Amino acid sequence: MFRTLRRMLFMIPPERAHDLAMAGLDGVVRLGGGRLMPRRIEAPRRLMGLEFVNPVGLSAGLDKDGDHIGGLAALGFGFLELGTVTPRAQPGNPPPRLFRLPAQAALINRLGFNNQGVEHLCAAVAAVRPRIDIPIGVNIGKNRDTPLERAGEDYAFCLRAVHGIADYVVINLSSPNTPGLRALQAGRELTALVEALQHEQSALQAVSGRRVPLVVKIAPDLDDEALAGLVDGLLECGIDGITATNTTIDHSAVAGSRHAQEAGGLSGAPLRERATRVVERIRRQAGPALPIIAVGGVMSGADAVAKMQAGADLVQLYTGLIYRGPGLVHEAAAAIRDQTPAAADLS
Ligand code: FNR
Repeated sequence: MFRTLRRMLFMIPPERAHDLAMAGLDGVVRLGGGRLMPRRIEAPRRLMGLEFVNPVGLSAGLDKDGDHIGGLAALGFGFLELGTVTPRAQPGNPPPRLFRLPAQAALINRLGFNNQGVEHLCAAVAAVRPRIDIPIGVNIGKNRDTPLERAGEDYAFCLRAVHGIADYVVINLSSPNTPGLRALQAGRELTALVEALQHEQSALQAVSGRRVPLVVKIAPDLDDEALAGLVDGLLECGIDGITATNTTIDHSAVAGSRHAQEAGGLSGAPLRERATRVVERIRRQAGPALPIIAVGGVMSGADAVAKMQAGADLVQLYTGLIYRGPGLVHEAAAAIRDQTPAAADLS
């Protein structure tokens, strides 16, 4: 049935198809009033002080504003990541800005953090929070027109805003579609930014009594030395977790196909091995204790297992959902349950 639906959706432009699919999902869940896919399929694992009924999550970017939480939660995910959200609403880049590469099971996007602003997201989460029983992460970024040297203010603003509604917060330093953003992944820029946000995190904890873990999401395009430097910096700061990876700006894996030349980040199957290698390297360097969320090219249960075997504690997916449909969520969770030992309790 999903194949037929996909054939129809692939006949219309990607962003329109996305809106229709989300509206359809929300409608079905509202009418059915419940869950479309089974979820609790294993003993819960704890990570970063949170409980995950299964280790397969929705990656950031699909529900940027938190408008579809009920529908997405019904698909059997163990957790959802919303955003990227910025302090103020912004339109993102002009369309077309999202492209399908069906032969490669891939997407290229240069959306550019189109979102309705952090206040909208907070209200959307607050409205459904009592009915949602899985962790909700919020991925935060900076507005395009905020100068890079003031990026910290945007991240801090978002952190303060989402602190009360997020179970964990992801500092997105790796979108290829906000000019200069990836420069924040190195050197003093990195540690100064992370330390400032950790200071904010502690201050918020002192008032609320709640510690909200901070995770940094990184790019797959760093060379070995830059990646080692980044991981070193994050370990020195005592970061709560790393998400690896965002989309890649290297389109060589899809060279020659329609849309391969479009600017933007490539996701899906062609990203898989590269992202898994990054996870492996982080795990080797960081040792067993650092929580790692692996994302990039999970298109099957076997792909999800490979991410766990590379050292991940949790996996996420986005492009796989577009090509394989909601059944992939359960397939991935079941494959992990059957083929990897339960993760150590890292709470
Ligand atoms: C993304 N991704 C993304 N990541 C992020 O941190 N913030 C964002 O706003 C977005 N937006 C976004 C839009 C679209 C259309 C896509 C396809 C992707 C990246 C995403 O979360 C993930 O890291 C990569 O897509 C790799 O995973 P998949 O898609 O191969 O499973």
